[in-house]
Amino acid sequence: MSEVRLRPATVADQPLLERWDEDEDVTSSSGNDHLDTDGIYENGYWTHELAIQSDVYEYFIAEVREGDGWRPIGAIQIIDPHREPTHYWGEIEPNLRAIDIWLGEPGDRGKGYGDKAMTAAIERCFASPEVAAIIIDPLNSNTRACKFYQRVGFKPTHRQTFGDDDCLVHKITRAEWLARHQGE
Ligand SMILES: CC(C)(COP(=O)(O)OP(=O)(O)OC[C@H]1O[C@@H](n2cnc3c(N)ncnc32)[C@H](O)[C@@H]1OP(=O)(O)O)[C@@H](O)C(=O)NCCC(=O)NCCS
Repeated sequence: MSEVRLRPATVADQPLLERWDEDEDVTSSSGNDHLDTDGIYENGYWTHELAIQSDVYEYFIAEVREGDGWRPIGAIQIIDPHREPTHYWGEIEPNLRAIDIWLGEPGDRGKGYGDKAMTAAIERCFASPEVAAIIIDPLNSNTRACKFYQRVGFKPTHRQTFGDDDCLVHKITRAEWLARHQGE
């Protein structure tokens, strides 16, 4: 069984994150909000994103164990949607976390790594006792990602438009997560 862990992302991960952004599944899954007019990620996007990290706006690198070392396979963003300064989610109650995940290389998808990385991210969120639920906002058109999230335990709640992006918001409460993992 492969082991997957999360570590905080740093400025040194910028080239890796930029490379992963070149993958079509990654760009198409993240909507249009970071793209410039050519459909290319704006210059300096990752420099900025990594620099503005805080306890309410964090990126992690998911790594899979290979031999004696760890190989980076994807990225995860965890934010407090009520408190983070970009107010991406608009008016929203406190005590939530919002997660985004992408595996950078096509060859690393469909192998269960996403499930393990997502589980680690969810556990990390619920380790803070005040966190009542976690929300996610896949594009409504990203049926594979929606299926993936639902398999992890998220339930669709409503459609919501973020910028130009038509998303299907999903949620999992602390009680729902615990019920799925009782006795483990
Ligand atoms: C969505 C994603 C994180 C899932 O991680 P994963 O490791 O591929 O998922 P798992 O191996 O645990 O589960 C595979 C399931 O994920 C789904 N999936 C979603 N996108 C997929 C892809 N590009 N390739 C393979 N499986 C994908 C499939 O429905 C698959 O289910 P199946 O085995 O019944 O066909 C990953 O595929 C990915 O990064 N995709 C591209 C970016 C993206 O869509 N991110 C979500 C943004 S909201």
